[in-house]
Amino acid sequence: MSDTLSKLTYQTFQQGKNYFGLAHKTLSSQLMNLIHPTLGQKTKPIPNEVLLKIHQRLSLLLETDWQDAQKGLYPTSLLFDNPWSDFFRYYPLVCLDIPQIWERAEQKKYQEFSQEVETDGYPSYYVQNFHHQSNGYLSDESANLYDLQVEILFSGTADPMRRRILAPLTQGLKAFESVPPKQIRVLDVACGTGRTLRMLRATLPQASLYGTDLSPAYLRKANQQLSQIKGELPQLLQANAEELPYLNDYFHAVTSVFLFHELPAKVRQTVIEQCFRVTKPGGVFVICDSIQLHDSPELAVTMESFPEIFHEPYYRDYTHDDLIERLEKAGFENIEVQVHFMSKYFIAHKPAEN
Ligand SMILES: C[S@@+](CC[C@H](N)C(=O)[O-])C[C@H]1O[C@@H](n2cnc3c(N)ncnc32)[C@H](O)[C@@H]1O
Repeated sequence: MSDTLSKLTYQTFQQGKNYFGLAHKTLSSQLMNLIHPTLGQKTKPIPNEVLLKIHQRLSLLLETDWQDAQKGLYPTSLLFDNPWSDFFRYYPLVCLDIPQIWERAEQKKYQEFSQEVETDGYPSYYVQNFHHQSNGYLSDESANLYDLQVEILFSGTADPMRRRILAPLTQGLKAFESVPPKQIRVLDVACGTGRTLRMLRATLPQASLYGTDLSPAYLRKANQQLSQIKGELPQLLQANAEELPYLNDYFHAVTSVFLFHELPAKVRQTVIEQCFRVTKPGGVFVICDSIQLHDSPELAVTMESFPEIFHEPYYRDYTHDDLIERLEKAGFENIEVQVHFMSKYFIAHKPAEN
């Protein structure tokens, strides 16, 4: 396929996901306003000039995604990677789950779990219906619906935002150019259903990949999804990111996507310190998470609405938090910040040994 044609196909693919997400959100919010009118009153409408800014940022994100593939950072096929069979299979269940989500939101039930779900042994901040999700992160049903729910929430941009960790990661790994590619170790902390690990596998086909998450159900899903792709299966391990079960100085690079806004402030610091501990001297730690108020004040209205619509108990605190200070406190240096669409990236380096 010529470059022009495949760029057009990519843009059309993204536009399709965008329209699908917007159509789903518009229809469900109209229904919600009929059935639960009080829920819709919780948020302010987004002014047109803010919508325009969001649209401009979205176009930039997709252009960067396309350009990074063109530069050979990852295969162009990754731009079209989508779990289609899961999407068709689980979309009806996503819709059927909506009335329970509204019910829970209206009744302010934030820790509602089915009896068969084991909630013992997890930190209390984690035993929550994040995004009002049925059974939080603790059931196989939740793991099956998660990727589709995120796609709808971000109108198809979740993967392009995740992929923005790949350029700084590859750049950071240049510090280990003398190490054979097979001996490079990369850890994804809070890997969820494994979307980022898929991208890492496509970018670093020979590296040893590791993923850790607190949810056994999400790890089962990750294992199932990752078994279907070429290359060595990443080693997945259930663990609390506050106590990473790996040796000191073990990984050449560590990544974490969409975790920090779901942690209380103190835990954010502990997790950063753990990531520092397991990163090799000279290694890189790349965080992708939500934008914050000081880098994107023009989008404050969206940041204020987000925790109101979706149950995100630590999000507001996260949007004010100084992650650079936290990273420096842990020992990281040369911290670079990037913003792409609705996400922010912290690229932090562990000082090399002299
Ligand atoms: C919003 S999801 C992001 C998942 C994935 N990184 C992605 O890009 O979709 C947050 C993830 O963090 C995990 N998580 C939350 N707190 C954790 C902790 N203390 N230790 C390990 N994982 C945690 C959850 O189980 C969930 O999979």
